[in-house]
Amino acid sequence: MITRKNNIFHITTQKLSYIIGIRADKYLENLYFGQKINVQNDYLALAEKTAFPYGYSVVINEKDKDKNITLDNICLEYSFHGTGDYRNLPLLLKMHDNTYSSRFEYDSFKIYEGIYKDSDKTHLPHARDNKNDKAETLEITLKDDFYHLELRLIYTVFSACDVITRRCVLVNHDKETVTIEKMMSLQLDIPKKDYILSTFDGLWARERHQNDKELISGSYMIESLNGTSSNRHNPFILLSTKGTTQEVGECIGVNLVYSGNHKEIVEVSEYGKLRILSGINDTCFSYPVKKEEVFYTPEAVLTFSCDGKNGVSKNMHDFVLNHVIPPQFAYKERPILINNWEATYFNFNQSKIMGLVKEAKHLGMELFVLDDGWFGERNDDTSSLGDWTVNEKKLGCSLRTLVEKVNKQGIEFGIWLEPEMVSENSKLYREHSDWAIAIPGRKTYLGRNQMVLDYTNQKVRDYIVGIIKELLHSANISYVKWDMNRPISDAFSNAGSATPGEFYHKYVLGLYEVMEKLTKEFPEVLFEGCSSGGNRFDLGMLYYMPQIWTSDDTDAQERIQIQSGTSYGYPLSGMGAHVSASPNHQTLRNTSLDTRFQVACFGNLGYELDITKLTTVEKKIIKGQIEFYKQYRALFQYGEFKRVLSDNEHIIWQVTSKDKSKAISLLYRPYAKPNDSADILYAKGLKEDAMYRVHAREVAISIKEFGNLINQISPISIKEEGILQSAVNKVYTLKSEKEEYIVSGSLLMYAGIKLKQRFIGIGHNEDTRVMGDFSSRLYVIEEVKSK
Ligand code: DGJ
Repeated sequence: MITRKNNIFHITTQKLSYIIGIRADKYLENLYFGQKINVQNDYLALAEKTAFPYGYSVVINEKDKDKNITLDNICLEYSFHGTGDYRNLPLLLKMHDNTYSSRFEYDSFKIYEGIYKDSDKTHLPHARDNKNDKAETLEITLKDDFYHLELRLIYTVFSACDVITRRCVLVNHDKETVTIEKMMSLQLDIPKKDYILSTFDGLWARERHQNDKELISGSYMIESLNGTSSNRHNPFILLSTKGTTQEVGECIGVNLVYSGNHKEIVEVSEYGKLRILSGINDTCFSYPVKKEEVFYTPEAVLTFSCDGKNGVSKNMHDFVLNHVIPPQFAYKERPILINNWEATYFNFNQSKIMGLVKEAKHLGMELFVLDDGWFGERNDDTSSLGDWTVNEKKLGCSLRTLVEKVNKQGIEFGIWLEPEMVSENSKLYREHSDWAIAIPGRKTYLGRNQMVLDYTNQKVRDYIVGIIKELLHSANISYVKWDMNRPISDAFSNAGSATPGEFYHKYVLGLYEVMEKLTKEFPEVLFEGCSSGGNRFDLGMLYYMPQIWTSDDTDAQERIQIQSGTSYGYPLSGMGAHVSASPNHQTLRNTSLDTRFQVACFGNLGYELDITKLTTVEKKIIKGQIEFYKQYRALFQYGEFKRVLSDNEHIIWQVTSKDKSKAISLLYRPYAKPNDSADILYAKGLKEDAMYRVHAREVAISIKEFGNLINQISPISIKEEGILQSAVNKVYTLKSEKEEYIVSGSLLMYAGIKLKQRFIGIGHNEDTRVMGDFSSRLYVIEEVKSK
């Protein structure tokens, strides 16, 4: 709800309050942001008070009633150069007279139902309205009459998920051009507390690892500069007060609906204020706005929770599912897929594909994804990007025929594309070398042997839309994996459709136009975003593509960290998670088939290994995995996710149904520990008084795990790594312990279940939990209803 009383705007959601005051000097003061409060007429209690000027400061207007005010020590809604606020600022405008100062003062406001009324005009992805959680918008207009500029601060409220979004709009009413050197989407100023900042950082194959730092004094900044939201620093950030746990404590979450260069700054000022800024990165950004033109920033997302970090994650997950992804995919169960990339790389033909498809069907999978290498003359990564014509010689038939063959097996068909790229060695590049991003006369640097297409150029966009439409209409394709395998460098449009200062932003606008057209034309096709894994994992992509390939790294131990980090800001149904071969292709680490599966369950499950070469035992295990996942798919993809525990020895994740009658927990142990006490299974968010049956999912324990110790129980001698061990291993595994309890929700949540003893090197029987390195169990928790 948004109310306005005198000079106060009070925005409330179910659990939070956001209060803005219009000051006598016409600047906007942030009076409060946090847990919902009851305010009658006592807003004065929230305002900053000053009697005398601070030493060595700029005072805004000494004759005014609000004299002695230094804006440097006010929590402001949006702040400006030249006003004496020396913190990091959200806005830098270069005026036609080459000055940088701006003074935007309050002018007027509008409150209306629904999202920002000009959302479509922004040509940017944005939060959607939803009849189950109706949005409401506040537009505050500020004016700088000296330069005839208008700045609108837009706040949209999504009450059920405790989210307020922010964005800014600049309108130039002057006859001269103004140049935006910086314009952030969100500024939030609040009094300083002992905050910890969590950011989610990484590189290829190790995206979104959580890093925490204490905020003491000064600024901390993360950014991306490679043209995408990047794997270096995700735009999602989390601030929590010291001592906040996953379940208890104050937390603020901020994200940006944008897929290009972004920047987030958190500053603790010496006056004891905290400032958060989020928006487009101002490096290489210089955007002219001519007479009567309008510039829209992307939308930033702000949430707050007193229920710890899981509380913020829940808000963000609900927001993404109900207000960001295409509504036709919200709560729609995602198919279990087999992708041929790590099974074959570029080396496949029709018989290999059909072998994978038939085995996939036999194992219970639902969708086959033909990855890179099906087009042009692409048999390695040196050619053909841009030539999106089917290599019929390689496939042995047309795409339509292949898809028909796959569909005949009862399997859906998906295809890989990389539509933003062109290989130097391609027909497209030979015909249109000026469509690639490059600076004329300079040596062009390549990434994975390829160049990026100039999406600022309308001709390029139209060509790509046309050719992909044709392709997708040519066969029954129900899924598209949209890849992007190199960052942008030498940002320059040969067509002159963007100046270097506009380039990165216009590239993103161009990409959104292409995705908008294609996803509109094919609303039932499930698009999965990908950028060498999770290089572009953000809300802008999720607006068009309801899921993203989380990382090229499918190693279970790495995925624990990657999926954990990703889960802070994004729901499980947004993440692709595959079971791949062991040793893993990225780390060479060996993990059990069940651990790989149990970690991949917390996302959209897929397989990405040569399933035509599985042993009898592996086939049986995978069949069982798929049956299990199908039984609980809705819970894994759409249940409420909680990070229950994370210490040096355990990780516990949990998904719970909305009515709290069902939950599944993953207990993961990175390392075996000898002679240790029991693991304790804790749960969260259940009904205290309800009774639950808790049982461990049975996993297969390979006899190889025991090395030559197996001879202590085997009637015949089995040599380690010998032919017999290998032969037995293909057809036989030991069963894991059986473990089952009927317990109350309160017991599970507060006492926890002391699980059976782990293998400690002394002996083994059916009560021993064999938990080596990188081992895991799933516990199914189901309410037992009394008759
Ligand atoms: C990078 C992706 O992340 C992989 O899954 C695969 O599709 C390759 N590109 C193909 O080139």
